[in-house]
Amino acid sequence: MGTEIYAHRGASKYAPENTMAAFELAYKMQADGIETDVQLTKDNIPILIHDEKLSRTTNGIGLVKDYTYHELKELDAGNWFGNNYSGQIIPTLEEFLAWVRYKPLKVNIELKNNKIDYKNLEFIVYDMLKAYKLLDKTVLSTFNPLSVNRLKALNQYIEIALLTSRKNKNLVTSARHLGANALHIKYRLLTSRIIEESKMANMKVRVYTVNTSPSIYKSFDLGCNGIFTDVPDIARTIRREH
Ligand code: G3P
Ligand code: CA
Repeated sequence: MGTEIYAHRGASKYAPENTMAAFELAYKMQADGIETDVQLTKDNIPILIHDEKLSRTTNGIGLVKDYTYHELKELDAGNWFGNNYSGQIIPTLEEFLAWVRYKPLKVNIELKNNKIDYKNLEFIVYDMLKAYKLLDKTVLSTFNPLSVNRLKALNQYIEIALLTSRKNKNLVTSARHLGANALHIKYRLLTSRIIEESKMANMKVRVYTVNTSPSIYKSFDLGCNGIFTDVPDIARTIRREH
């Protein structure tokens, strides 16, 4: 397998991000994997939503962390994208894992704990992945270096990625020291040097968010291990022709 195509928040160009509709579409488009974002409700239920605030992608207001799951499941998570998606709700992590379990899809769960460091998020997510026997096809990622450490302490064999959007000459070495096995970098940080350094350190490199043809081509050309894209269908066509 060359560069793997992860549907970023599902096929999020065509369906509301982080909903079952976007995940279903990514599956139909034959993405290799799905990337999604996890946060905790007030009653510690892991749910899939990108922003800490509810207002951009639902008809709610305020912060995710201030509501119980019972309250959040009443919100509409699709209508903002288009009338035809109204009725989509914020999925729980468990719902997603039950859906993805027997599908030929890899999984990237991003722990959204860089702004709000949710207590026990690492353990809650890890424990659920273990229960669903999905640890083997999952990479856990986070922008929070402390969280990389905490994940590593839970299980030294799981794949953990440090996410970064910042330039740092010592990126590969510092990520390695934290216990990461992979780097998930913003596209503008992608160079042949970072690919070389990562290979030498036995670390994978995946790039976000790659939606245009030139950026998809460059990611394939440089031999990234994976891309995160809102348009998995286009990325597949390019990969076929590459
Ligand atoms: O995991 C890659 C990418 O999703 C990280 O940024 O803001 O889209 O969650 P963001
Ligand atoms: Ca993400």
